[in-house]
Amino acid sequence: MLKERVFSGIQPSGNLTIGNYLGALKNFSVQQDLYDCIYCVVDMHALTAGIKAEDLNRYSYEILSLYLAADLDPEKSIIYFQSHVPAHTELQWILNSITPLGQLSRMTQYKAKAEKHADNIYAGLLNYPILMAADIMLFDAKYVPVGDDQRQHLEFTRDLVEKFNSIYGETFVMPEMLATKTGTRIMSLQNPAAKMSKSDEDINGAIYILDSEKDIKKKIMRAVTDSVGVIAYNKDQAGLKNLIDIYSSFTDLSPDDIVKKFDNQGYGTFKKELVEVVVDGLRPIQNRYNEYMSNKDQLEEIYRSGAKKARKLANAKIKEVCDKIGLIEL
Ligand code: TRP
Repeated sequence: MLKERVFSGIQPSGNLTIGNYLGALKNFSVQQDLYDCIYCVVDMHALTAGIKAEDLNRYSYEILSLYLAADLDPEKSIIYFQSHVPAHTELQWILNSITPLGQLSRMTQYKAKAEKHADNIYAGLLNYPILMAADIMLFDAKYVPVGDDQRQHLEFTRDLVEKFNSIYGETFVMPEMLATKTGTRIMSLQNPAAKMSKSDEDINGAIYILDSEKDIKKKIMRAVTDSVGVIAYNKDQAGLKNLIDIYSSFTDLSPDDIVKKFDNQGYGTFKKELVEVVVDGLRPIQNRYNEYMSNKDQLEEIYRSGAKKARKLANAKIKEVCDKIGLIEL
């Protein structure tokens, strides 16, 4: 039986946080046994972040190595760089022509980013969701594992699928969001109301996958809690709740188990143990990551073979699309 297709991508635009790890990467390796998976380093998306050339280059290798360190297997999944498959941008251009400008300009992520950089808003930022839709549609992905913050982009993709199919006839698969098992949303250590983000300006808010033990310790010990002083799991103690979620995600103990385990103990004791849990949880990934990063030849072999497989699938789809819309076949 044919497995259903999964497509996901991470932008090489910053250091990945444990939020990216727990919410996405950690599940990718499980998904690859259940589905026909494609994991892309979406480097063309990162261009919209106004990134310096050397940073884009370094982060691209980093994300690829982190995919592999998190047990993505290039024999089971297709792993590649978006820019190595020109069909992404070809399809994006085609989809441009059926995308309502109004809908694009109302996207919440676009509005938030545009507000932040009001003096220099580029077309790439506005058109970002079309490229993301093209990524997904190009491979007829049925499932897209992304966090809640990408829900609107997925809805947007679904609208484009419906629109294209209704104008030109059944061509693309309708994608759905693949919710993560735990649904854990890791929040900033400094502001538990905001998501832990790789673009957070406050570096104490985020623990990065590649952080040293010393930094992890510093950030966790400084994490915002409350003055209640009792270990409990509820939304009124949001900072503590977030720390318990992190503990839970790394150990597979439930929040209740953790509350019981630390009954009558202070936040300090809990935080110290959390440091160990996080450091131990990240160590194997960091070790594997370092091995991959020190072997660029091996990385090249992997991304080349991934691009080859992705290009084959993508080119067949582009051919079908060009035919549907009336472009003359070469
Ligand atoms: N926009 C996604 C994010 O910021 C990254 C992304 C680009 C993506 N293309 C994709 C995710 C296709 C899933 C599928 O997280």
